[in-house]
Amino acid sequence: MKIALIGYGRMGKAIEEIALKRGHVIVMKINSANAHTLTKENLRHADVAIEFTKPETAYEHVRLCIETGLPVVCGTTGWLSRMEEVKQLCKETNGSFLYASNFSVGVNILFELNNRLAALMKDRDDYEVSIEETHHIHKKDAPSGTAITLAEGIIASGKKESYSTNAMVSPESLQITSIREGEVPGTHIVQYRSENDLIALKHEAFNRKGFASGAVLAAEFIHNKKGIFSMKDVLHT
Ligand SMILES: NC(=O)c1ccc[n+]([C@@H]2O[C@H](COP(=O)([O-])OP(=O)(O)OC[C@H]3O[C@@H](n4cnc5c(N)ncnc54)[C@H](OP(=O)(O)O)[C@@H]3O)[C@@H](O)[C@H]2O)c1
Repeated sequence: MKIALIGYGRMGKAIEEIALKRGHVIVMKINSANAHTLTKENLRHADVAIEFTKPETAYEHVRLCIETGLPVVCGTTGWLSRMEEVKQLCKETNGSFLYASNFSVGVNILFELNNRLAALMKDRDDYEVSIEETHHIHKKDAPSGTAITLAEGIIASGKKESYSTNAMVSPESLQITSIREGEVPGTHIVQYRSENDLIALKHEAFNRKGFASGAVLAAEFIHNKKGIFSMKDVLHT
């Protein structure tokens, strides 16, 4: 498979390593210096694009891929407000798009556990739920996309109505604490605390390989398919 890497930073490089090991070819590596080469004409040399850049650029990159007719996998977080526009464009043009706030198998299992635990705790007012996420100091968005997905799972259960960052705004709002330190690849903890005990779900990434291999699996999955997909489709979680 010929892959266009849109974003050749920490994630782009980790993805390249895994893609090459799996026999794929990288036909394009885009960063800010050569961003002018990201054109429809050049994208047509690829079978699939993988986008990991920054919140400000993700929408335009994904749109360009969809308009080119190129299946695109996107892992950039922090641009959720424009997600519906992309999905609409994808439907209108019969394109292929897969977004995941987290591509690692472990976190996708955590999402399922989180949904299950939220359903069990929904009516238990004796337990207060909160989320803590820790990432490296270079991360541009907060809370993390993964923390938002976890929060959405808890909100969907009916236990909370909304989420807020770093401060308890009301009992109906789920508090997410974002910590930025060192080079931490990503740690997420969902906890339910009562007066007497604590139940916690924790995922700690030791490196970026889990995210990168999930993104390559997603690219292999979306190649030659039409539609809007998630990691649930790839991993059958
Ligand atoms: N979904 C997941 O599983 C997952 C996992 C980890 C990270 N992420 C997310 O993925 C994104 C990237 O993370 P990262 O750690 O790889 O970041 P990074 O190391 O900062 O890399 C970002 C890349 O985007 C490029 N870029 C910046 N502006 C650009 C522009 N205008 N046009 C083209 N390319 C541009 C950068 O190029 P320069 O270096 O030349 O500026 C760099 O190659 C973040 O949003 C992060 O939260 C998601």
